[in-house]
Amino acid sequence: MNVLAGIDIGGTKCAVCLGATGGAESEGIRLIDRVAFPTNGEPDAILSRLAEELERLLAKHGFSSPDAVGVSCGGPLDSRRGLALSPPNLPGWDRIDVLKPFRQRFGVPVALQNDANACALAEWKWGAGRGAANVVFLTFGTGMGAGLILSGRLHTGTNDMAGEIGHVRLEPDGPVGYGKAGSFEGYCSGAGIAQLAREAAAERLARGEAVAFCPRERDIPSVTALAVAEAAHAGDELAREIYRFVGRQLGRGLAILVDMLNPERIVIGSIYARQRELLESAMTEALASEGLSLSLSACRIVPAELNERVGDYAGLSVAEEARIANL
Ligand code: BGC
Ligand code: NA
Repeated sequence: MNVLAGIDIGGTKCAVCLGATGGAESEGIRLIDRVAFPTNGEPDAILSRLAEELERLLAKHGFSSPDAVGVSCGGPLDSRRGLALSPPNLPGWDRIDVLKPFRQRFGVPVALQNDANACALAEWKWGAGRGAANVVFLTFGTGMGAGLILSGRLHTGTNDMAGEIGHVRLEPDGPVGYGKAGSFEGYCSGAGIAQLAREAAAERLARGEAVAFCPRERDIPSVTALAVAEAAHAGDELAREIYRFVGRQLGRGLAILVDMLNPERIVIGSIYARQRELLESAMTEALASEGLSLSLSACRIVPAELNERVGDYAGLSVAEEARIANL
């Protein structure tokens, strides 16, 4: 048995996961335990806390050390040197060595990977991408990033920047997300959906119309993608239209990926996995009208199978790669 430690450094929370693989690839992964805490404070303090939490988890389950540690973090980063390079969702993490504390404490193989790449590895090894040689994973959460498995390997690009589809512009102007105005991430992300909804709410309220997910003007800043989804499920037409619009943009973004990469499967996480019925028909229509039909006929679009837990498996899949490559 191999004991793996997966570390997830996110904009809102950090998590440490302990998992075990049997060794044979077909055996999959067993999640042993996990702890999470909010991402508050200086990078050094957060990294020490992560290493301490990992030591506590190991002790609790009677292990002296993991066999490998994998860290998953939003880009940009330098995976070879183990550095975070000021990811937009981690302000202040400028050239921070995120592997050092784990390398120092445990002396086992360690690796860092972009969060979307790590999720792609996880879904490919243990989830909805199993058995396919060409898999694209899309995060569609707080941000929009892609992880690319091409011809049975993770494609990281020349300097870890492959798969930054969230920054590709779909419209000359529009919501911003973390990228530029009108970018894929500007629409297809939690922040993007919230911004679209705030603009729509402000317009209606100014005309004296009622808005189900935003009763008063002072509620505008606190509108969330989730609140809009709840209103949509309850039948609110404005909320449903916002998700249809986002679904169309999702379909357009997917068409770019399908035309460029001819993947067998595209696995989509977070918001798609949760709100599929609100997005699906608009997405499929836009994709069918913009993607090349031969490529489309070979490609299935599926929700992440590891689902809410994909973030937990992400770090573990990086650890498994580190172990196999003996990094
Ligand atoms: C970043 C990507 C990341 C994605 C999801 C984007 O803003 O540029 O590196 O994968 O967000 O977190
Ligand atoms: Na990526």
